Amino acid sequence: MVTISPSLLSANFLKLGEELSAFDSQKDKDLWFHLDIMDGHFVPNMTFGIPVIKQIGMVAKHPLDAHLMVTNPLFYVEHLQEYNIFNLTFHFETTKHHDSLIHKIKKHYPSVGMAINPSTPVDAIPDYILEMLDLVLIMSVNPGFGGQKFIPYALHKVEELNRKRVQSNGLLKYVIQVDGGINSEEAKMLVQKGANNLVAGSYIFNNKNKDDYNQRVESLKANH
Ligand code: DX5
Ligand code: ZN
Repeated sequence: MVTISPSLLSANFLKLGEELSAFDSQKDKDLWFHLDIMDGHFVPNMTFGIPVIKQIGMVAKHPLDAHLMVTNPLFYVEHLQEYNIFNLTFHFETTKHHDSLIHKIKKHYPSVGMAINPSTPVDAIPDYILEMLDLVLIMSVNPGFGGQKFIPYALHKVEELNRKRVQSNGLLKYVIQVDGGINSEEAKMLVQKGANNLVAGSYIFNNKNKDDYNQRVESLKANH
């Protein structure tokens, strides 16, 4: 099964409540709301802060998936605990102490993810860290902005992570999530290589008609 995570970065912030409720007809666990949290430092952009995340957490009917693109993930781990976030993903490149950060996230969130930038190889992640993760996020664009072009090298990374998972005899249980530049073409290839969670921003939200959002979600799922 593939989960689709619409990235709210591309939603209309002036009508966020309506944007969220456009997905009410989806089955609750098959769709996550992807929250791109930026600090203007790890990436050259900023999105929404804690007050907005709090309000989203109060009304969202799907699990919240927070993607921290911040230099100091620990601050956010501590300050986002109350807001109903299901999965919290930090970037591999932002810490030298992956295991202690993972332990801290596990104490307060049901699922912990780790993201790697396009230039970070899968081999950089030690196996004992992979064993601790519920999700590995492969960035298929450089983080910071929606609407960029998919970097095809991400497909090799999905393949590699899937091979490790299959060969581990159940030891590695992570979801393989991919984020950036995904439309229905990329979705098909990614799922064939073993991805099971696809983030999509502009493909879903850059529609004139809100009714099309769910059709776009279905077209990302329908290709396998
Ligand atoms: C980029 C973000 C993505 C972004 C994806 O830094 O992590 O989640 O919103 O948007 P699209 O699908 O437009 O590339
Ligand atoms: Zn993201």
